[in-house]
Amino acid sequence: MIHSLLLLVSGWLLLQEPPRRLDPAAWGSNHVGKEMPEFVHGDECLFCHRNDIGPGWQRNAHGLTLRQAEDAPELVELLRSEQSLAGVLPEVQYVLGSRHRVRFLKKEGYGKLALLGAQAALAPGRKLERWLGLDRPVWDREVFGEGCAGCHASGVDSKARTFALIGLDCFTCHGVVPLEHSNDTSLVWLSKKRRRDARALTSICAQCHVRAGAKSRASGLPYANNFVPGDNLFQDYEVDFSKADDGSVNPGDRHVLRSARDVALYGSEETTCLTCHQVHAGTSRHRSALRAPICLDCHNAEGPMKETKPYTVRSPLCQY
Ligand code: HEC
Ligand code: HEC
Ligand code: HEC
Ligand code: HEC
Ligand code: HEC
Ligand code: HEC
Repeated sequence: MIHSLLLLVSGWLLLQEPPRRLDPAAWGSNHVGKEMPEFVHGDECLFCHRNDIGPGWQRNAHGLTLRQAEDAPELVELLRSEQSLAGVLPEVQYVLGSRHRVRFLKKEGYGKLALLGAQAALAPGRKLERWLGLDRPVWDREVFGEGCAGCHASGVDSKARTFALIGLDCFTCHGVVPLEHSNDTSLVWLSKKRRRDARALTSICAQCHVRAGAKSRASGLPYANNFVPGDNLFQDYEVDFSKADDGSVNPGDRHVLRSARDVALYGSEETTCLTCHQVHAGTSRHRSALRAPICLDCHNAEGPMKETKPYTVRSPLCQY
């Protein structure tokens, strides 16, 4: 009895103690202002990994985020059904998005794309819900390089605002992968032998997933600057972590901010994105994760866990 009371009191004291704040920039290095390293492209990786990774990759939201229009005929078909966009239809070369929204793009010189103002909101099953911005069936030549490329394309040069590859290549998460990794998998980030460094891992996912009001100090752009997996993102990428406690941020974005903050600012090592997410399987295995404040971003403090707080993901940065 006394014992459990003591436990209670000491537990309470622990809760009262303000968390110790670390300097998120204190460890590691980064590639700001340096040459982007050479990296092996995804089609080469998939030559060897066609059976384990290949099949799932064609359906993965990361693999699909930006692709050739001919690889998404059902989405181009949406355009065909809208009379007022008949004029731009022949120009569309790329599509962005596959779950909630679809944007249409075309080439605009080397490593640049122009973005169509009009966009489609999707209902489940990739059916058209409605069109938005039909009054703007025009091409914006700046916004993709200034505001989107860093998280929807690969090998981005922040100075020239150009990218090397359409979509998200293996490099964006696995980094520079030497061929010797086939004998020693600890050489590659996120292999079974190299996914325990909570800080480096969080930097990898946060380079794109921390979207609310973050920017590169050096470039001023709203995406990470020459980030290479293994780098410390937070040396150049300025993030307002207080938004993790801001109830107006939707749970989708808020739990990401909280998870990143707990690692980068409070030094937590138990829980990372990979505790709950399996990127290639496209599933979450979060049910057995240790109970923590992050649970309450989506669940109520009382009542069955089956009930979750309903939310719609919105992002001014991504224009949806
Ligand atoms: C800092 C990184 C970042 C930048 C910059 C960025 N995005 Fe995104 N975008 C994301 C992430 C991460 C998601 C997925 C978020 C989620 O589902 O919770 C996303 C999702 C989207 C989606 C939704 C896709 C779907 O079907 O659900 C669209 C559309 C989109 N972005 C368009 C854009 C456009 C257009 C721009 C530039 C104006 C842009 N984004 C800039 C990171 C970024
Ligand atoms: C968005 C980040 C991301 C991208 C992009 C990505 N991966 Fe991964 N990969 C991961 C993570 C995280 C893991 C750890 C297991 C998991 O979550 O699926 C992983 C695990 C793996 C594994 C080990 C599988 C296992 O059994 O654990 C292989 C092989 C792999 N990735 C290959 C690739 C290849 C090839 C590409 C490009 C076509 C690629 N990955 C793109 C994040 C990514
Ligand atoms: C020449 C063939 C080959 C190429 C090219 C190749 N890999 Fe591998 N990879 C292997 C082999 C073999 C293994 C070890 C066996 C395994 O786990 O699949 C491996 C292991 C891995 C693992 C760790 C799996 C684990 O067990 O944890 C990852 C992650 C990975 N590769 C990613 C990549 C990425 C990303 C690329 C491209 C940059 C790439 N590989 C290119 C053959 C290749
Ligand atoms: C280079 C940018 C980038 C990186 C790095 C990245 N993501 Fe993503 N992620 C995105 C974008 C963009 C989308 C939305 C794609 C779309 O819908 O068009 C997304 C979608 C997702 C989704 C929702 C879709 C789904 O498959 O359930 C999850 C979960 C996710 N990412 C987790 C992760 C994790 C965990 C990591 C770190 C291992 C990571 N991501 C690294 C850009 C990135
Ligand atoms: C405690 C578990 C947990 C942690 C830690 C966690 N997530 Fe999630 N996340 C979830 C669950 C559960 C969902 C919603 C259910 C689903 O889609 O599988 C989700 C949804 C998402 C989505 C999709 C949002 C949407 O609706 O479009 C993205 C993107 C995402 N998480 C990224 C991340 C990233 C990046 C990290 C690390 C910085 C992270 N998550 C940490 C459990 C977690
Ligand atoms: C980003 C949102 C999100 C976060 C964060 C989150 N959950 Fe969930 N959780 C969901 C959603 C959505 C479901 C229902 C779908 C599913 O099972 O994936 C769910 C379902 C569950 C269930 C199954 C309930 C049932 O009876 O079917 C459990 C248990 C659970 N969550 C526990 C947790 C715990 C513990 C945490 C904190 C470590 C947590 N969740 C954090 C979104 C979230």
